[in-house]
Amino acid sequence: MGRVACPGSFDPATNGHLDIIRRAALLHDEVIVVVGANLAKHGLFTVEERVSMLEEVTSDLPNVSVGTFRGLLVDFCRSNGVSAIVKGLRAVSDFEYEMEMAQMNYRLAQIETLFMTANPLYSFLRSSLVREIATYGGDITSLV
Ligand code: PNS
Repeated sequence: MGRVACPGSFDPATNGHLDIIRRAALLHDEVIVVVGANLAKHGLFTVEERVSMLEEVTSDLPNVSVGTFRGLLVDFCRSNGVSAIVKGLRAVSDFEYEMEMAQMNYRLAQIETLFMTANPLYSFLRSSLVREIATYGGDITSLV
């Protein structure tokens, strides 16, 4: 499989995201990590900050690049030669939402979605919890 996209909000990227990105990079020629800019103004970090953090943590992966997209993910995929979207599934609770998006993205543009099961070490990890813990002074060093 050639070029795939790992899309997300990444506000901020967690070790769970990084685990999926690393594993995707082993399976595919090229991985583009793309930060969705549509809702970014409501987030904690700016799009530029998210991109910069992702670039830093993926700098040892030669076939991974980081970008942004605005609008529909499938439009980004079409105009950048992306053949599939790669997403991580942590638990059954992720499944319904992710399946809806995958089916809609296929309906819109025949873009496939490939799911990877999350590393159990990170199945409890999500960016909103990291933000909350950090806001109240908790230790997030092993999470991001
Ligand atoms: O980190 P998240 O919140 O799971 O990322 C979700 C994201 C950004 C991948 C998703 O919301 C998305 O693709 N948004 C772009 C708009 C779009 O294409 N919407 C239709 C999805 S079927």
